Amino acid sequence: MILGFELTWTYIMLGGIVTFVLLAFQVLVGMRKIKFKGRTHMKVHRWTAWILLAVAAGHGALALVMANGWEILS
Ligand code: HEM
Ligand code: HEM
Repeated sequence: MILGFELTWTYIMLGGIVTFVLLAFQVLVGMRKIKFKGRTHMKVHRWTAWILLAVAAGHGALALVMANGWEILS
């Protein structure tokens, strides 16, 4: 439990789904199936890459906490 928030598998699953949606978006932007005008396009692609990395790392870290039954700030 972290400040009254109870981590459950449901949140890990939701985090994974969010990660997957971001990944799908990133691939579609990369393949230019989703386009943005001019310079904005690469900006979106590069920013999404970093956001994806951060969200995936967060999802993975919380999944490890969950899978190992670690107590953080109980
Ligand atoms: C691009 C990166 C990733 C994507 C798209 C992704 C996607 C997902 C999705 C969709 C789920 C839900 C699947 C289900 O309900 O069975 C999930 C669950 C999970 N993910 Fe990820 N994930 C990513 C990275 C990671 C990383 C880096 C780790 C660990 C270091 C991780 C560990 C887990 C675990 C342990 C679960 C729970 C599985 C279960 O419910 O038993 N994921 N992930
Ligand atoms: C997981 C998926 C992806 C990630 C994380 C990703 C990440 C990135 C990043 C960070 C850059 C910027 C590189 C730089 O600043 O020099 C980049 C550039 C680029 N990406 Fe992606 N990308 C992904 C998928 C794709 C896909 C599927 C395509 C196309 C089929 C694509 C096409 C491109 C192109 C054309 C560039 C410009 C390369 C250049 O001239 O600098 N990307 N990508």
